[in-house]
Amino acid sequence: MRTDSTSTSNLYFLIGFMGSGKSLLSRGVQQSVDLLTIEMDEEIERTAGCSINEIFAREGEKGFRKREQSVLNNIIDQYQFIDKIVLVSTGGGAPCHFNNMEIMNTAGTTIFINPSAERLSERLEQKKEERPLIKDLSTQELQAYIKNTLAKRLPYYSQATIMVNMINDDKNQNIEFLKDIVMAER
Ligand code: S3P
Repeated sequence: MRTDSTSTSNLYFLIGFMGSGKSLLSRGVQQSVDLLTIEMDEEIERTAGCSINEIFAREGEKGFRKREQSVLNNIIDQYQFIDKIVLVSTGGGAPCHFNNMEIMNTAGTTIFINPSAERLSERLEQKKEERPLIKDLSTQELQAYIKNTLAKRLPYYSQATIMVNMINDDKNQNIEFLKDIVMAER
């Protein structure tokens, strides 16, 4: 765990690879803390009027990334100064495109959820279908994809304000830890 600094902003961004459990942890925190949770991928689907798979099929990754940044900026504009804690689960590639990492670090606190590569492949093997970047990969290809893509993305993820290394993968413990982060100084 690393806790260099915490901002006093109400905005928290969960970042990390596909399958790292961002949405699961966010839902867990929401059960006992009065906060607003936002799923960036759901917002992208809502504004596009179609699924992430369809966006990739129609507009390619380039089109998706543009939509992703626009949704990120809109979330910040809409929620930055409200009187409530807002926990935003971002898509795995969001911090690694354009200047999104800088945008998030300026607007609030970024929290990098970092499980082991083995855990990621276990989870993603079961949930490939709704993820266009991996849906057609075999088990072996998926493992290679995780290894290579994680290596490329780590320089971005590691710019996070806070890093949560999920070594023991204890969901409840990680939820408690996240709760402490968002409730600090309040
Ligand atoms: C992506 C991750 C997905 C989604 C899209 C692209 C990525 O979100 O944004 O399929 O580039 O890693 P999750 O991290 O919620 O799966």
